[in-house]
This record gives sequence, C-alpha cells and structure tokens, in this order.
Amino acid sequence: MENLLEIRDLKITTLRGKNTVKLLDKVDLDIKKKCSFGIVGESGCGKSITANAILGLLPYPLQVSEGSIRYDSKDGEKELLKLSKKEMRSARGREISMIFQEPMTSLDPIFNVEMQMDEALTFHHPQMSKSEKRERSLEMLRRVNIPRPEQTLASYPHQLSGGQLQRIMIAIALINDPRLLLADEPTTALDVTIQAQILKLMNDLKEQNDTSIIMITHDLGVIAETCEEVAVFYAGQIVEQANVIELFGKTAHPYTLGLLRAVTSLGGESRKLYTIPGIVPPGGQWSQGCRFADRCEKCMEKCRQAMPALTEAAPGHYCRCFLHSEEVEA
Ligand SMILES: Nc1ncnc2c1ncn2[C@@H]1O[C@H](COP(=O)(O)OP(=O)(O)OP(=O)(O)O)[C@@H](O)[C@H]1O
Ligand code: SF4
Ligand SMILES: [Mg+2]
Repeated sequence: MENLLEIRDLKITTLRGKNTVKLLDKVDLDIKKKCSFGIVGESGCGKSITANAILGLLPYPLQVSEGSIRYDSKDGEKELLKLSKKEMRSARGREISMIFQEPMTSLDPIFNVEMQMDEALTFHHPQMSKSEKRERSLEMLRRVNIPRPEQTLASYPHQLSGGQLQRIMIAIALINDPRLLLADEPTTALDVTIQAQILKLMNDLKEQNDTSIIMITHDLGVIAETCEEVAVFYAGQIVEQANVIELFGKTAHPYTLGLLRAVTSLGGESRKLYTIPGIVPPGGQWSQGCRFADRCEKCMEKCRQAMPALTEAAPGHYCRCFLHSEEVEA
C-alpha cells in the first residue's frame, strides 16, 4: 500500500426514532506515510465521527453504513472496518493512537502518572519488566519536555497543569510507537502560549518518530502551523482539499474563505474576529443542492437545485463548488 491510510466512500449514519439519518457522506481520504493531515470545519461537520470510525469507537446508534478504511499496519495491509473488537483493541495504541481535547477527562484521577503509563505499556507488552516500563515511561516524559520526569511519574492528574497533562497524554499516545496519531482538538482547552508549545512538540515528534498525524481542528491557524495537507469538512462532506500552501494561497471554496476570515491570527498578524453567519445544517436537514447555499454570499440559482461534485480545480486541489466546475454529484 502506498499510503498509510486510505478511506473510501465512508458513510456514517445514526438512528433518529425509526429513521436512519446520514451524518457523513461519501468521504475519501488518503493519509500518506509520515504526513501531517488536517481535518478542519465548524462544529458538527463530522470531524470527530470520522476519527472515531477509524478507531472503531463510534457510539451506538452511530454506524459505518458503507465504505472502507484500509490501513498499512506493522503486520501488513488491513481493512479496519472488518477487524474484530479484539483485533481493534490490539491495534489501538500500538498502531493508531488518539489524543482528545480534554486531557483531564482522558486521564484517570485516581491513578498516578506512572500507573497510567504502565497500563498502556502492559497491554501491548505483557512481558516487559517493571524497570523496563519505568525507563520507557521516563524516556517518553523527557521526549515531551516534561521537567522533573521522576517527580511527574509519582504525580496525580490534579497536581498537574493542563499543558503538562496534555504532554502526558501525548507521551501515553506515543508510548507504543503507533504509526498514526489522531489528535482531536488537542489544544483547544489550553491557553494560547501552551497551545503553540504543544503544536510545536507534535511537529517535532512527528519528525523524530515517523508518525503520521491527523490533526482535527476548527481553526485554520492550527492547520497552517502543523499540517502539510488539509481537508475542509462541511455538513458531512469534504468541500475542499489540497496541500496547505495551495489551500491558503489559492483558496477556492467560499466556505474555506469564510473559515480563513475567522482565523484570529495567522503568521503573527492579528485579525478581527469574524464568524460565518448561520449554522451548519445537521444530518437529516441537508438540502439536495449545495449544503453551504444558505450561508454562501456567492449562492446562485443552480446551487439550490443540484449538489456540486468534488472536482480537481488544479493538480491535487479539490473543490466542491459551481464557481469552479459545472459538474454535478452523481
Ligand atoms: N453520539 C451521537 N449521537 C447522535 N449524533 C451524533 C453523535 N455524535 C455525533 N453526532 C452527530 O454527528 C454529526 C457530526 O458530529 P461530530 O462530533 O463528528 O462533529 P465535529 O465536526 O467533531 O464537531 P465539533 O467541532 O463540535 O467537535 C453532528 O451532527 C452530531 O450531532
Ligand atoms: S456551489 Fe454555490 S452555494 Fe455552494 S459554495 Fe459554491 S457558490 Fe456557494
Ligand atoms: Mg469533534
């Protein structure tokens, strides 16, 4: 397999009463090896459910109704959607890890840091000795720039700051050398200076460990600082995708332009806070035409009648908008 992860035609649905409602609609993604890939979009666009589907963690009644997620694992190519619960559990952490927005809720308050790092190691390496585990945990804490790692191992979550906790979460996520790290809004709960440090740390770790990262965020500023490629999600679909330089330099989709205007600071330049008027239509309330039509300043009549297809506006740059192509979604 050329890529680390290949998602094809992914559809996620849920049940609302007796009705099946679509939440994610035919998403294709290729994550290259050693690449940092950004998924960006406003709240409710389908970013987290995509990450949860990759890890087999969709909560009932959400389910993948169609599609495939192929992954180039340490033991060869695998279809993640066909793994048993047991196989998926063994892939989590060892192959694919996830860090979440709230470090405080991901760590257990009643165990100290050493116990939690120990547990992550024991699950995949039951044969490892106590002293090997301690050495590995200390090494990981040093790698994420935790000062006084010995003292930190003995600490409980409430004794540590938000930034330290997020560093520890990253250390735990990387402790078994996964090839893919999913980071779902990993810095939103942190203050701006700490955010920048954590993002830099994730970049450094990616370089050192050959890990690919999928960075999920609502903030294009975070994407600009951390990612090589980016997919913009809107109402359960990809509306624009390109490498980061192309996406920022030649932004094509009106929604991405709106997100760009909403970025508060980019390259040190401060901007006035802007929000795109209106809200993302939730699953079950999508129109047959362009899903962004109600909020788009450039909306034309045909935008309400048919859905634009995701087409290649320039090599490697995809956009779903009638301003760039007449092609209609089949
Ligand atoms: N457990 C659930 N039950 C029902 N609907 C859900 C559930 N989780 C997510 N959804 C719906 O799926 C859609 C996509 O949600 P998702 O959590 O992926 O959004 P998101 O892009 O991650 O947003 P945010 O930026 O707020 O995290 C939303 O319409 C949401 O309401
Ligand atoms: S297709 Fe039409 S409504 Fe949709 S983003 Fe393009 S111009 Fe706006
Ligand atoms: Mg989310």
